Amino acid sequence: MSARRVQRSLGPIVLSSAIAGLLLACAARSTQSSVRPSAPSAPRPPVVAPAVVLDETEALARPSLAEHFQGRLELGLALEPYALKQQGAVIAHHFRRMTAENAMKLGSLQPRAGVTNYEQADRLAAFAREHHFKMTGHALVWHQMQPGWWFKDGKQPATKEQMSERLRSHIFAVVERYADVVDNWDVVNEAISDLQGQIYRDEAEKSLWMKAFGGPDYIAQAFRFAAEATAKFAPTTKLYYNDYNVEQPEKRVKILGLLQDLRKQGLRVDGVGTQAHFSLTSPTPKELAETIELFGAQGFLVKISELDVSVYSRDDWGSKTWQAAVPFSPALDRQIAERYSELFQVFLAHHAQLSSVTFWGLSDDHTWLNGFPVSRPNYPLLFDRSHRPKAAFDALLEL
Ligand code: GLA
Repeated sequence: MSARRVQRSLGPIVLSSAIAGLLLACAARSTQSSVRPSAPSAPRPPVVAPAVVLDETEALARPSLAEHFQGRLELGLALEPYALKQQGAVIAHHFRRMTAENAMKLGSLQPRAGVTNYEQADRLAAFAREHHFKMTGHALVWHQMQPGWWFKDGKQPATKEQMSERLRSHIFAVVERYADVVDNWDVVNEAISDLQGQIYRDEAEKSLWMKAFGGPDYIAQAFRFAAEATAKFAPTTKLYYNDYNVEQPEKRVKILGLLQDLRKQGLRVDGVGTQAHFSLTSPTPKELAETIELFGAQGFLVKISELDVSVYSRDDWGSKTWQAAVPFSPALDRQIAERYSELFQVFLAHHAQLSSVTFWGLSDDHTWLNGFPVSRPNYPLLFDRSHRPKAAFDALLEL
C-alpha cells in the first residue's frame, strides 16, 4: 500500500514556523537515539550525534536548477519564512516559484475570531516579488490547520450562512492581497475520501467542512468565490484542486469525477495538483504517467505540488507498521538520486501538460517526513542536513 492512505493526524494545530522547525529537528534527534543497537554488554559512552555544520557554498556553486530546466519545467519549493535567512540565496539561485508551507493556511492567517495575521505570508510574498518568483497560494480550504473558532458562533456551531460568508470574505481578502504574486490557488485541498466506496471526506476522516455545510457544497462554494475573486483582482490566476495519492486508480477516478461535476455546474476548475508525497517505489512511473495523461486528456492542467521522496517504502499503512529508521549512506543517496531521475523523466516527457513542479522543502533537516508517520530521520529532498547538494540534485542536472 502506498504512503498516505491513512488520515494524517497533524490536527488543527498551528505551529509557528520557528516552533515547527524546532519540533522537526527534535523529532529527528530523538529518532536517531532510539535506533541505537541493543544494549552492549560493557558500558559505552553515550552516542553523540556529530554537530552538523551548515554550509551553503556547494549549493551556490552548482549551476542553477531552475535555469537548467528553463522552458521545460518550472521549479518551485515550499518553505517557512525563517528559512530565507539562512537559505535565501540558495532558493533565489535554484528556484522560480514558491509555496508557503504553512503561512497562507487559514489557521495562520486567522488564528482567532476577528484577528488576522498576514506577517509570515507577507514575508514570503515580499521575497517572491524581490526575486521575480511566482507563488502558489496554499490553501483556501483544508480540513487541517484551521482555527478552532472557524466553525463556531460562540459556543454554538455556526450556521451554513455564516460559514458561507466567512469563506467568501476569507477568499476575497487573500486573493486580493496576493493578486500580483500568486498565479494559482489551491482552492480546495484533500476533500476526497481515502475510504473505498466513499467519495467525500467527512467527519470520520476528520473533516468538519461537510458537517458545517450539510454536504459537499462547500467545495463548489469555494470554487465559485475563488472564481469571483480572481475575476475581480487577478483574472489570469488559475484555480486548482489539490490532493495526495492522486495516482491511486480509485482515488483519481473520484477526483476526476469531482472536477467534472464542478465544471458541469459551470464552475471554473483549471487543474489538479498531485501532491506527490512519493516513496522510493510508489507510485510507479507508469501510474504517474497515466495520471498526468488522464487529467490532461480531460482538459485539466496538472501540477506536481508537494514533491518529496520518503525512503521508507516498506511502511505498511494497513497495519500501521512502520519501517525501522535507516541511516543515510552513499548507497541510499544513489537510490534516492535514481528515483528522482526516474520521476523527472516522466515529468519531462509530460512537460506540455505540467504547469509546475514544487518540492515540499529544500533540505533534509527541515521536512515533515522526519516526524510523519512516526519520528525517524528521512532524506526526501535534494539537499542534505548540512544543506549540501545530494546525489539527487546532481542527477537532475544530468537530465
Ligand atoms: C499536506 C498539505 C501540506 C502539508 C503537508 C505535510 O500535503 O497539503 O500543506 O501540510 O500535508 O507537511
